[in-house]
Amino acid sequence: LLENGAEIDMVEHFSSVLPLFTLCEILGVPPEDRPRFLTWMHYLERAQDLAVQQAAAPITPTLELMQFVQDFNTNVEEMFDYGRTMLLKRREDPKQDLMTAIARAQVDGALLADEYLDGSWLLIVFAGNDTTRNTLSGAMKLLTEFPDQRQALIDDPGLLGGAVDEFIRMVSPVIYMRRTATADTTLNGQVIREGEKVIMYYGAANRDPEVFPEPDQLDVRRANAGKHIAFGYGPHTCIGKRVAQIQLEEAYRQILARFPDLKATGEIEIAPNNFVHAISKLMVKRG
Ligand code: HEM
Repeated sequence: LLENGAEIDMVEHFSSVLPLFTLCEILGVPPEDRPRFLTWMHYLERAQDLAVQQAAAPITPTLELMQFVQDFNTNVEEMFDYGRTMLLKRREDPKQDLMTAIARAQVDGALLADEYLDGSWLLIVFAGNDTTRNTLSGAMKLLTEFPDQRQALIDDPGLLGGAVDEFIRMVSPVIYMRRTATADTTLNGQVIREGEKVIMYYGAANRDPEVFPEPDQLDVRRANAGKHIAFGYGPHTCIGKRVAQIQLEEAYRQILARFPDLKATGEIEIAPNNFVHAISKLMVKRG
């Protein structure tokens, strides 16, 4: 298709597969089971979109919607069962994978209880999937908007390592996290009392002109790009940072080498999601 110069939804498909299958590889999910993860993620994302729609205006319950709810429940049940079965198998028959590490982890000499087992492996999938996926798509959009920067990367792929942080800074896929103040404090003149909830908008910090001059400009040579806080800060900093950076760097090394003229067409669908900046569709073409 690409050879014909036809428009394809390559980024949509590519970016939904790469991060998810990478996580499957780390967890130890065999290749034949990986497409099931794509289906489960599809149902979870669609349900989230519907919840946002429902919050804006009540949705009329159609037959199609009721069928969706039924399929959603079946899929979520399947997903939990899949993880539990796999974790129990790993307790009996350990392998060199993350599922084994989770299955055999001990706290105060006891194996993790079932509810922690579910949460542990699903947190990896939820946290590592659409964050990396949307940075992949978002970077394609940025490279189209800043053709001189794309050319700089094609001319010198050695810049990719730093460029990846610049992509993540500008996309900032996680929109916010919330914290509770443990003591009275003042931030930039704003008094925050102990116990108050504070929302941290990562994108705002990552486009702070005092830290990043011309913050809306993609600059693949930006010396302090790595100072962004899109992965969070402090004890809960993202544990998948390197996994994400390695995938993004390699994906763009391959894309730019094989399809140097690939561009986003401008046709884009943004999911109604206020937690992760989510591109559900991004069309690309050559030329
Ligand atoms: C560009 C990609 C990614 C971004 C922007 C991102 C961003 C974040 C952010 C903002 C947090 C919360 C930090 C906090 O609360 O202070 C976080 C936590 C986390 N991330 Fe990522 N993440 C990415 C990729 C990944 C990947 C690939 C994985 C798994 C391999 C992952 C696993 C996690 C986990 C398990 C946590 C929870 C850590 C904790 O609460 O201690 N993330 N990430």
